[in-house]
Amino acid sequence: MIRGETALVTGGSRGIGRAVALALAAKGCDVTVHYHSRRDLALEVSPRVLQADLASTASIDRMVAEIPDQSIDILVNNAGIWKPSPLGSTSEDRLDEILNTNCKGVFWLTQAMLPKLRDGARIVNISSTAARVGIAGGRSLYGATKAALDSFTKSWALELAPRGIRVNAVAPGYVETDMTAEHLGDPDRRQNALARHPLGRFGTPEDVAGTVLFLCSEEGAFVTGQSWNVSGGFVI
Ligand SMILES: NC(=O)c1ccc[n+]([C@@H]2O[C@H](COP(=O)([O-])OP(=O)(O)OC[C@H]3O[C@@H](n4cnc5c(N)ncnc54)[C@H](OP(=O)(O)O)[C@@H]3O)[C@@H](O)[C@H]2O)c1
Repeated sequence: MIRGETALVTGGSRGIGRAVALALAAKGCDVTVHYHSRRDLALEVSPRVLQADLASTASIDRMVAEIPDQSIDILVNNAGIWKPSPLGSTSEDRLDEILNTNCKGVFWLTQAMLPKLRDGARIVNISSTAARVGIAGGRSLYGATKAALDSFTKSWALELAPRGIRVNAVAPGYVETDMTAEHLGDPDRRQNALARHPLGRFGTPEDVAGTVLFLCSEEGAFVTGQSWNVSGGFVI
């Protein structure tokens, strides 16, 4: 069921989160879009928007307090950052920023959301192929946070199964969004990245949204604790 249900999509203002929010809304879901700084873009996606900095537990708590108990059917943990963290030159501030936003924030938000979720709800974590393969270029902290999401996905599926809440993850390959624009703007890096996708193209936000939709729908009713590669063959 998606028509008539309610969803909260983090980072729904742009990129993959935006496509997920629009896909859920197109199926008749009442979507609240979370954003960090781009309220203007969030309001283009939905009239219902909420702000929080995922790197701050106080900010998350303030946002979640605005959500009525037992009111959300679908939580998509999509917001994240992809900043460099080369081994040898990464500051503690950068380390904290990546871990707090992509990992601690997702845990804290999901924990805070538990009373807000209806029994039978679905949680989808947006992971990454970077959780499964080594990639040169100094993004190891990013990959580690996404591996943490895959691990959360398995354990939360077990912890929340008694409430009928299904928890899954989607792991995209490269998707052309603001996040990857600078990286893929370099012709050599673009060619290298493309070569890792046997289907011969990068993903689109809509490719990812389609899988999220399936995992949240009746068709996916017996799927839980899984992390799905949506990567054009990047990870096989
Ligand atoms: N693009 C890819 O190739 C790719 C591949 C694999 C996985 N992913 C994952 O997919 C998800 C979405 O990626 P994307 O490419 O759509 O990214 P994006 O275009 O850069 O959008 C990032 C989103 O996260 C929000 N955000 C950023 N920092 C935040 C913070 N501190 N607190 C709360 N929200 C914050 C942004 O909000 P504002 O708009 O308000 O700033 C925005 O909505 C991320 O988890 C990413 O790791 C992406």
